[in-house]
Amino acid sequence: MEGQAYTERVLAEILPELQPDLVIANAENAVHGRGLNRRAAERLYEGGVEIITLGNHAWDQRELMEVIEEDTRIVRPLNYPGRPPGRGWTVCKVGQRPVMVVNVMGRTFLSQLDCPFQAVDDLLSVHRDIRHVIVDFHAEVTSEKIAMGWHLDGRVSAVLGTHTHVPTADERVLPKGTGYITDVGMVGPRDGVLGMEREAVLRRMRTQLPTRFTVAPGPCQFHAVLLDLSDETGRALSVSRIARYEQD
Ligand SMILES: [Fe+2]
Repeated sequence: MEGQAYTERVLAEILPELQPDLVIANAENAVHGRGLNRRAAERLYEGGVEIITLGNHAWDQRELMEVIEEDTRIVRPLNYPGRPPGRGWTVCKVGQRPVMVVNVMGRTFLSQLDCPFQAVDDLLSVHRDIRHVIVDFHAEVTSEKIAMGWHLDGRVSAVLGTHTHVPTADERVLPKGTGYITDVGMVGPRDGVLGMEREAVLRRMRTQLPTRFTVAPGPCQFHAVLLDLSDETGRALSVSRIARYEQD
């Protein structure tokens, strides 16, 4: 089953049970493993997703440059230099409370964007009134993500890592009340290499020749985290991993 269809299936199962106040998805690779377009975003909204974050594949579908200008539910990395299309944060309402969702990208082995630590500091300094802030830190290395968790502990509700496609087993609430996980994981093929067809990846790694990657066939995996936040303070009460696996 393709990743989007599996997302719809799992969300239809778990949302009625969990009844979350807000559903956020990193969907930088929702279009057959490359980028996001209008149709892919619509499918996620129909399935129950309310806010979409991105990452280093934000612009893989050219259409997104227009879509992101119109759709305030889509958030691209905050720390681009200059003035890229769209926004690096958005605010939605849960009940009467504002919730800010931020997407920011790491630099180690990944990008040459502006300093992610400074970018988040600057943003928080002008939005001191918002207590519920969820940061998707899209980064490659565990050290940079852990450092961001400590940097923001006590100042945001959660720092959730994305990008490596592999969930980590370090979910916790940091001492000053920020929910943290180094990587949430992915939704998509279980038996490829980060979702791509494994023979092609191996061919490229072993020969160093150009090789076309396609999405791997076979059963899917679904990874997410459930965050419980204090209504009053915005601090995290718990972080728990969710994993589902399609049967062969
Ligand atoms: Fe990524």
